[in-house]
Amino acid sequence: MADSTPDVTENPEAIAGEDRRGFVTRLMAVICGGIAGAVPFFSGLVVILDPLRRKGGGKGFLRVATIDSVPDDGIPRMFPVVTDRTDAWNRYLDEPIGTVFLRREPGSTKLECVNAKCPHAGCNVDFNIPDRQFHCPCHDSNFEANGIRISPESCPSPRDLDTLTVDPERLQHGEVWVDFKNFLTATTDKIENE
Ligand code: FES
Repeated sequence: MADSTPDVTENPEAIAGEDRRGFVTRLMAVICGGIAGAVPFFSGLVVILDPLRRKGGGKGFLRVATIDSVPDDGIPRMFPVVTDRTDAWNRYLDEPIGTVFLRREPGSTKLECVNAKCPHAGCNVDFNIPDRQFHCPCHDSNFEANGIRISPESCPSPRDLDTLTVDPERLQHGEVWVDFKNFLTATTDKIENE
């Protein structure tokens, strides 16, 4: 019986057709293999790099105290500010990020809050109870109990202590949440330090 298969050894067009089919098959295999390998590769890359996309915590309203822990005697009380912090790949719980003073006038539910950082060069102030004044030990800046500079003309600090906002709604429920921020030092204006 006669063989109907084209003799590719003698037909140039048949040879070219066979080459094209072989090339397309190999190309498809390479593309499919590349896609199959790329999916898990990029998935893994996203997992590894994901923390870099996330921002660290530490800003905004943070719970600092309860109203009961701030006696209404006009004397500022010092409280640490802590929050969770995330760097590129780790999460740290309750990291200290600053210090504030809270104060209540006698008979008042109004709460004053100042950042403990001295606006001159960033040292922490302390409160001298007998003198009822804040004092900065670094270069002798002094402030009233409400954070206003004493003798501004001779005070090294270029501005009063930096006041911070207390959440009024949470305060009604006895909780002290502070919009904690740091500000640039050595400036007369209060400029938030990003
Ligand atoms: S840092 Fe407070 S007076 Fe200089």
